[in-house]
Amino acid sequence: MPPGWARGGKMQLGVLLTLLLCSSLEGQENSFTINSIHMSSLPDWTVPNGQNLTLQCVVDVSTTSHVTPQQLVLFYKDDVLFYNVSSTESTESFFIPQARVYDSGTYKCTVVLNNKEKTSQEYQVSVKGVPNPRVTLDKREAIEGGFVMVNCSVLEEKGPIHFTIEKLELDTKIVKHRREKTSRDQNFVMLEFPVEEQDHVLIFRCQARIISGIHMEISESTRSELVTVRESFSVPKFHVIPTGMITEGDQLHIKCTIQVTPLAQEFPEIIIQKDKVIVAHSKHSEEATYSVMAMVEHNGNYTCKVESSRISKVSSIVVNITELFPKPTLEFSSSRLDQGESLNLSCSIPGAPAANFTLQKEDMIVSQAQNFTKIASEWDSGAYTCTAAIGKVVKKSNTVQISVCEMLSEPRISHDAQSEVIKGQTIEVSCQSINGTWPIAYQLLKANRVLEGCTKNSNDPAVFKDKPTKDVEYQCVADNCHSHAKMFSEVLRVKVIAPVSEVKLSILLSEAVESGKEIVLRCSVKEGSGPITYRFYREKENKFFHQVISNDTQVFWSKPQASKEQEGQYYCTAFNRATVAGSTPHSNLLPVRVFLSPWKKGLIAAIAIGVIIATLVIGAKCYFLRKAKAKQMPVEMSRPAVPLLNSNNEKVSDPNVEANSHYGYDDVGNHAMKPINDNKEPLNLDVEYTEVEVSSAEPHRDFVENRYSVSTHCMCNIFESAPLNSGVFSDSPGVCTPTNSPPVLHANLVCVRSGVLGSSDEPGPVQISNILFCCFRHYISAHM
Ligand SMILES: *[C@@H]1O[C@H](CO)[C@@H](O)[C@H](O)[C@H]1NC(C)=O
Ligand SMILES: *[C@@H]1O[C@H](CO)[C@@H](O)[C@H](O)[C@H]1NC(C)=O
Ligand SMILES: *[C@@H]1O[C@H](CO)[C@@H](O)[C@H](O)[C@H]1NC(C)=O
Ligand SMILES: *[C@@H]1O[C@H](CO)[C@@H](O)[C@H](O)[C@H]1NC(C)=O
Ligand SMILES: *[C@@H]1O[C@H](CO)[C@@H](O)[C@H](O)[C@H]1NC(C)=O
Ligand SMILES: *[C@@H]1O[C@H](CO)[C@@H](O)[C@H](O)[C@H]1NC(C)=O
Ligand SMILES: *[C@@H]1O[C@H](CO)[C@@H](O)[C@H](O)[C@H]1NC(C)=O
Ligand SMILES: *[C@@H]1O[C@H](CO)[C@@H](O)[C@H](O)[C@H]1NC(C)=O
Ligand SMILES: *[C@@H]1O[C@H](CO)[C@@H](O)[C@H](O)[C@H]1NC(C)=O
Ligand SMILES: *[C@@H]1O[C@H](CO)[C@@H](O)[C@H](O)[C@H]1NC(C)=O
Repeated sequence: MPPGWARGGKMQLGVLLTLLLCSSLEGQENSFTINSIHMSSLPDWTVPNGQNLTLQCVVDVSTTSHVTPQQLVLFYKDDVLFYNVSSTESTESFFIPQARVYDSGTYKCTVVLNNKEKTSQEYQVSVKGVPNPRVTLDKREAIEGGFVMVNCSVLEEKGPIHFTIEKLELDTKIVKHRREKTSRDQNFVMLEFPVEEQDHVLIFRCQARIISGIHMEISESTRSELVTVRESFSVPKFHVIPTGMITEGDQLHIKCTIQVTPLAQEFPEIIIQKDKVIVAHSKHSEEATYSVMAMVEHNGNYTCKVESSRISKVSSIVVNITELFPKPTLEFSSSRLDQGESLNLSCSIPGAPAANFTLQKEDMIVSQAQNFTKIASEWDSGAYTCTAAIGKVVKKSNTVQISVCEMLSEPRISHDAQSEVIKGQTIEVSCQSINGTWPIAYQLLKANRVLEGCTKNSNDPAVFKDKPTKDVEYQCVADNCHSHAKMFSEVLRVKVIAPVSEVKLSILLSEAVESGKEIVLRCSVKEGSGPITYRFYREKENKFFHQVISNDTQVFWSKPQASKEQEGQYYCTAFNRATVAGSTPHSNLLPVRVFLSPWKKGLIAAIAIGVIIATLVIGAKCYFLRKAKAKQMPVEMSRPAVPLLNSNNEKVSDPNVEANSHYGYDDVGNHAMKPINDNKEPLNLDVEYTEVEVSSAEPHRDFVENRYSVSTHCMCNIFESAPLNSGVFSDSPGVCTPTNSPPVLHANLVCVRSGVLGSSDEPGPVQISNILFCCFRHYISAHM
């Protein structure tokens, strides 16, 4: 090496190092830029299915360096990275052998250089067409009622694939059955097709559809191999015996037969049907027979059905039977007869061939002759038929309904109430015809007008309800199917009594009566059937003081000479047979006032003055006499007692007022009552009062006022300690003793002391004082 070279060699090394240094310095400072990036497809963006396809990514990079930089190239399909490569080449490729529909999609590529990155635009790759599917079958020979399993696949592709499989008869090319199914994850489907009775030689064809983007790629149809179908059993065949013309009476056999393949899994059932009715069937045999004596009714269309679980084969035949003789007709004289009339029935056949006849009522034979006559009774009602027989052939006629009517017996009429009916009360009127065919139409006549009607489906009574308000006459009319005219019952008379209503008490003239004038009270009712019992009361008295029984709606009571004692509140009651016990109607309360006439007042004043003067004179005289004799005198008292009682007892309380009333009643009422007592039956609840006055000093001395017929005397003992607890006694010894006959049956003992009546209303001890009245309220004995 020349020294120059050596020197030069030294220089060259320096340059290289400098270059390297520079280069390395430049590497750090070199500039890179990605000018462009795009994709290309070989041979095209759209390729047929199965073609090789190459996708290329072409990158254009500018750099200040003379060394090509390392770059990363990324391939995306539908935004999913599927390939990356690091290279220094400007073009990178991705090879797709035999592109399939599932390779279709949107592709792009990206280059990464140092920190810079650039992505191409998006490119659409379309793979056209779908490979022909493969169809495989599980068998080449099938039996009716069986199945064929069809497998259709497109192995090159991936799911989802939509398959359509059709079943066709080879000759006709008619699609007998089509099934579709989408296989999501697999590239095949398995579908089962039933083999039916009309299938002979079958083929299946399959088509596949795959979605490529927004397009649908469809394959061609692929045909399967042939499947030959074997019958499990033959179409049924009819055999009718006898062949030729069939006449009524012949023995008819309708037979249906089939042939069954030995391979059949199950034995079919044979059914012979006429219209909807199964007339014969068999399950484990190759035939079924319907045997019957031929009648025209057996004419018609017979169907033989042979059925296994899925296969059904049918054939039909029309059977025509010649009629031997027409149906008999049953004639009748009348379908509705009265009992006792003649029932004529006649059975005949058109053309009148010789036949044996039977006449039946329901299931009972009534005659073996053609004609039937009898006197009808109710039992002959019913449904009649006749039958005509020639040889073995028996025919039934129409049905005839005969009703025989029994005449009605005279209807009986009655009602449920007693002899008298209270107005407003509901009564039930019954009508009944014991004999006679029902339905029976009843009518109830009230005063000859129809009130109501009803129809009974038995001989039980018809019941009508009515509310008679006055005396009324009822009559029943009954009618039925019998030709006899309507039957009338007897007339039922019902007496209606009206209860008493609106009792009113009034006074004639004026409510204020001058003493000594007449009081006339009128008790009246608005309505009420006689006899009416009227009773007059004074208020607070339990007992009436006057009673009248009258047919009239008003009665009177009068007191010719009124005195102050007649003053008070009056009322009356009225009742009759219709009155319910305990609800006797009361009248209004009528106040009656009695006043003294002015001249009487004057006279009384004058007499009073006279009496005072006389008393003073007598008093003076007595004083002198007593001085002379010093003698004791009993006090006698006589009627009227009221003033005495009132003057003796100043503590008059309510019961005392009642006592006074009793007392006054005796005084007032007896005038009126006496005649009633005379008229009445002996046993009468009226009460007589006897007054007894007893002096405390002389207890056994009694003073009796007995103005009327009753002469019962009573003596009261003074009993200092014994309390009179009750007003009702029967001869209690030591308390009160009746002193004379007649015998007393029951006695109500009432003790009066100083005007106080110790009655049952006022129990408790009676205090004893100087004067005591003992009264008998008793029931007058029966013999009085
Ligand atoms: C497709 O590519 C395969 C190799 O992957 C090759 O053997 C075949 O010949 C190619 N087909 C065509 C039509 O070029
Ligand atoms: C690039 O591909 C390799 C395998 O070829 C893989 O291991 C790697 O993760 C991929 N890189 C990216 C960023 O996907
Ligand atoms: C259907 O046929 C395909 C091939 O044609 C096969 O791969 C697949 O297993 C079959 N499917 C079944 C269920 O036998
Ligand atoms: C008999 O009945 C079958 C089934 O109902 C029907 O298909 C057929 O036409 C009928 N035949 C005649 C002659 O009516
Ligand atoms: C049955 O046969 C008679 C003759 O025997 C014929 O007149 C009639 O039309 C037939 N009826 C049917 C339904 O075929
Ligand atoms: C029923 O027959 C009898 C005797 O055969 C006859 O006297 C009568 O008139 C017939 N009645 C009717 C309604 O035909
Ligand atoms: C039955 O009565 C019919 C008339 O109703 C008559 O023509 C026929 O001869 C009678 N038959 C017999 C067997 O009496
Ligand atoms: C009627 O019945 C008798 C006896 O049962 C029989 O001998 C005769 O042949 C029958 N007549 C007809 C027409 O059937
Ligand atoms: C009802 O009929 C029977 C028998 O038929 C008879 O004894 C009775 O007298 C009849 N009664 C009346 C009320 O007609
Ligand atoms: C009341 O009338 C009946 C008949 O309605 C008669 O019998 C009776 O005698 C009459 N009584 C009086 C008191 O008039």
